[in-house]
Amino acid sequence: MHTLQRRSLGNIFDRFTLDTLEEPVSRIADTLLDRLGEQLRTTKEADFATTVGEEMPAATISHWLRLPESDHDLLKSLTHGQGLAQELLPSKSQLVQANEAAEGLRTYFTEVIRERRQGLGDDVLSDWIRIWDEIEPDRAVADETLYHLVMFIVIASLETTSTLLSNMVWLLDQHPGSMAWLRSHPEQVPQAVEEVLRYDPPIHLTTRVATEDTILSGFRIARDEVVHVMLGAANHDPAHHTDPDTFDILRTGSHLGFGGGIHYCIGAALARLEAIVLLKSLVRRFPTLRVTAPPVWEPRVAFRRLTALHVTER
Ligand code: HEM
Repeated sequence: MHTLQRRSLGNIFDRFTLDTLEEPVSRIADTLLDRLGEQLRTTKEADFATTVGEEMPAATISHWLRLPESDHDLLKSLTHGQGLAQELLPSKSQLVQANEAAEGLRTYFTEVIRERRQGLGDDVLSDWIRIWDEIEPDRAVADETLYHLVMFIVIASLETTSTLLSNMVWLLDQHPGSMAWLRSHPEQVPQAVEEVLRYDPPIHLTTRVATEDTILSGFRIARDEVVHVMLGAANHDPAHHTDPDTFDILRTGSHLGFGGGIHYCIGAALARLEAIVLLKSLVRRFPTLRVTAPPVWEPRVAFRRLTALHVTER
């Protein structure tokens, strides 16, 4: 089922789509940075996480899926709630909250699909509806699959990218030499984004269940056993990364920030585009931006969430 669903989407962020998205993503970054600049001028301090980090992925994904701007706050709050279900050891109250959020997401996206069906157009969701109507003769089953796909993509895209965008500003603030280097070498921004994803990725852990008895790197794993894949730790494996605990924006090589294998992140190219566009603009427009206090993190390990990052200009 996973393979069928993933194939049905195709390469959603191919070169053509990314080229088309570059202009709107740049526009979104400019608008949010204007807002940041305005706040810095009037109150001398701003919260980068809420002003830019959380807004940019919501605006980008809504533009791509053609969802109204007025729904951003609702979507952000529902995805924050649903993300709790993906924690390592969610508490009962977290699961209740996640369940309520999942119900809210179901209502929201069921309605989105119903409305879109009334006027299929030249947009990505309309394309998926056409594709699933060909694959699945039962309209109710097609709609259920579409609802899952769209909801999952939105959940997977918001907090993860927000964390990358804010954490990128925090890590570069902690390494002023790297920030200074990027100001004179903006062409190395993409490499710096990769290093943020390696050094401190938004998702530290994913989970798998063994489908058969197996031996992995000398460890015996029995069928049905749960395996937690520590992506954040793997990114600091000295067998793969020289001097792994050094933040080095000139580093090359791969990392596991977007996972690996058949579940490799489907939105990696979009997340990279957002981070690159934003960081290029930021180093150009705010050369004296400084963080005033360490970021505030929610106590999560799987889907991490940075809720506040106060900045000023010095
Ligand atoms: C910095 C931002 C992002 C990070 C760090 C990230 C990370 C990941 C990781 C680690 C996985 C693998 C999960 C697993 O193996 O169980 C994954 C899967 C996925 N991601 Fe992302 N992601 C990001 C942004 C996005 C965006 C922007 C989208 C959509 C537009 C997206 C959609 C997905 C989907 C649909 C999957 C599931 C793929 C599958 O199961 O085949 N992600 N992501």
